Order: sequence, then structure tokens, then C-alpha cells
Amino acid sequence: MSSFFPSVYDLAMQPLEKRSFRQIRNRILSKTAGRVLEVGAGTGINFPLYKNAAVVDAIEPNQAMIDKSQSRKNEAVVPIHIHQQSAENLEFPDNTFDCAVATLVFCTIPNPPKALEEIKRVCKPQAKILFFEHVKMKQPALAFAQETLNPIWKRICDGCHLDRDTLQTIRESGMKVTNVTAYYKGLFLVVESENINK
Ligand SMILES: C[S@@+](CC[C@H](N)C(=O)[O-])C[C@H]1O[C@@H](n2cnc3c(N)ncnc32)[C@H](O)[C@@H]1O
Repeated sequence: MSSFFPSVYDLAMQPLEKRSFRQIRNRILSKTAGRVLEVGAGTGINFPLYKNAAVVDAIEPNQAMIDKSQSRKNEAVVPIHIHQQSAENLEFPDNTFDCAVATLVFCTIPNPPKALEEIKRVCKPQAKILFFEHVKMKQPALAFAQETLNPIWKRICDGCHLDRDTLQTIRESGMKVTNVTAYYKGLFLVVESENINK
């Protein structure tokens, strides 16, 4: 993992954050409650937006991202605990969390099915699991453009894939998908799910 990507991430994301992502994040995070797991917290952009959670355990493997997230941790109104961990190997006991959140992460996680298995394991039955992800688009020409760009994109953006069908991967994990909202012609999806299959 590079330390270049963390240093430019917030700046690169600023236009989208201002335009719509801030609202989308607020909407998702307002649905969190109790003890929350945040997966791949990056620069901690979500930290100040938690209002209803009791406590957030944020996991992030990249130390440079963790360093950048400290100031946002200090701005947060709920307690945030940051752990250097990967989603595929969560160091929490079974049935720990009431809720889990992943925003713009399943594009980058090397083994998404394993990460979903781990999230299911550490979440309680009926826990809400909330995703905001960019995915492979349905429109064939756009999907083709994503596939074509993918090799160079992955190199520039620290392993981020443009062509993942994350909704299908979530369905295949056995989580119950309860709501899907599409943004930007289906490039971004908010997926709400429940941990039913334990
Ligand atoms: C595009 S950033 C998204 C950061 C933040 N969640 C957001 O909404 O802006 C992707 C993040 O996923 C993290 N990541 C990469 N591999 C991971 C893994 N195996 N488990 C958890 N997080 C991972 C990266 O280090 C990076 O911080």
C-alpha cells in the first residue's frame, strides 16, 4: 500500500463530497446505532458524521490512512476506536456489533467474500450492514469503459477496482439485502442489508 494515495485522497474526493457524497454519508450514518464496526475507514471522513452510534470501532490496514484520520477522530461526537486490521481477518469475537458500515471500500478489499464472511461473523443476528460502493455499471458501453480503464486505475488508486459487482457479492454472502439506492446512473449504490444467515 502506498502513502501517496492517502496524501491526495481527500483532495481528489472533495468535489464529489461537496456535490453529493456528504449527504449520502449522512443518510447512511443516521441509520447506525449501538456498537458500530466501520470497515476501511481511510482518512476518517465518516467519523464526524456519526450522531446516533454509541461507539464506533473503525478498522483500517494502511498506517498512512490511520495517521490522516486522527484529526477527524478528535472532531467526532461519538467515541471512535481505530484498529489496524484487515476486513478479511477481523480481530473481534463473534456477535460483537449491532451495525456495520463500509463506504467505498469493497472496490479495494483484496478478498470481498472473505471480508463479508468476517463482517457477518462479528455482527449480531439482525445487525444492519450498510454499504456505499461504486460498482460495475449495467449499461454495456459504460461497463466496457470501466473494464478497459481498470488495469491503470488499480495502479493509480491503490488497488481500487472499477468493475466489481459488489451487490451480487453481498447477495452471495447470505446477507439479506433490504434496500438498494442507485446514484450517478448506477455507478454508486447504497446497499442496506441485514445479517440473517448465521
Ligand atoms: C477508497 S478508500 C475509502 C475510505 C473511506 N471508507 C471513505 O469512505 O472515503 C478505501 C480504503 O479501504 C482500505 N482497505 C484496503 N484493503 C482493505 C482491507 N483488506 N480491509 C479493510 N480496508 C481495506 C484502504 O486502505 C482505504 O483506506
